[in-house]
Amino acid sequence: MPPHTIILDTDPGIDDAMALFLALRSPEITILGLTTVFGNSTVEATTRNALNLLHVAERTDIPVARGAAQPLVLPLGETGEFVHGQDAMGDIGWTDVLAPYLKPVDQPAAQFIAEQVMANPGQITLVAIGPLTNLALALQLEPRIAQAVRSVVIMGGSVVAPGNVSPTAEANIYNDPHAAELVFGAGWALTMVGLDVTTAVRMDEPRFAALRASASPLGRFVGQIAPRYQQFHRERYGYQNGTVDVHDPSAIAYLIDPSLFAGQAWRMVVPVDGPARGTTIADRHGHFLSTPKVNCLVEVDAPRVLDLIQARLSA
Ligand code: RIB
Ligand code: CA
Repeated sequence: MPPHTIILDTDPGIDDAMALFLALRSPEITILGLTTVFGNSTVEATTRNALNLLHVAERTDIPVARGAAQPLVLPLGETGEFVHGQDAMGDIGWTDVLAPYLKPVDQPAAQFIAEQVMANPGQITLVAIGPLTNLALALQLEPRIAQAVRSVVIMGGSVVAPGNVSPTAEANIYNDPHAAELVFGAGWALTMVGLDVTTAVRMDEPRFAALRASASPLGRFVGQIAPRYQQFHRERYGYQNGTVDVHDPSAIAYLIDPSLFAGQAWRMVVPVDGPARGTTIADRHGHFLSTPKVNCLVEVDAPRVLDLIQARLSA
């Protein structure tokens, strides 16, 4: 399998930061650009965080294209500071970019995605770890990206695991269900890294403490931003020992080593309103005939994923 060239569509976010650093530390992955979206905070804040994270990683050569400030159809709902802190980065006090030269490119995210995919047919994997608005806008702008992309990997949704923002919905899908409907219906090679696997990958305080004590600046940064995320998981889910769900890095781990996961392809529908808003309904017994199949990851070797993340972030 040749290395992956990806565009990372992201709403940083503590676990987004972990995912970005994991990708940056992985020779299997080349990042062509970051595209930002509302979600864990406003798009102003997630764009600032994306620029700052690249600064921390000394990779400001990677372009950042600012994306959607709100969902396709619905008004902007509550953003994720209650999980990720006021700065969406663990309350480390980020209120501005860390250097004046840190700026997004002039192109909006959807245009960046469409142009890059069309200029590199069959080459680019889109990895979306926030609401799917930018991918949907890119599809509307240039529908041929559905054939020109190499593959699409999203962190979002669930087949059987309970939701994390409603009884059945995962946050990234719930936050823009109309965008998800377009992305799930596009007919491209789509893999869903959902709550079925990401809530099985649980990182605890000894692993964060090891990152804090590591020689790697990126590992130490992750150790610094983790406590706010650990607090949320303790208060919301009663997790002990500083344990958190590892959502976004699991999507990167899948790209690095798909053998860590097992999946099955099912046709999917995404209701856009009502109590099932944003639920990813997998047709496991063949009742729907028309919607495209999505590769849904349902099993994971969690200890090996955690070992991979820890090894790469401490290196
Ligand atoms: O449901 C988990 C997802 O929502 C992750 O992508 C997290 O960063 C938030 O965006
Ligand atoms: Ca995210």
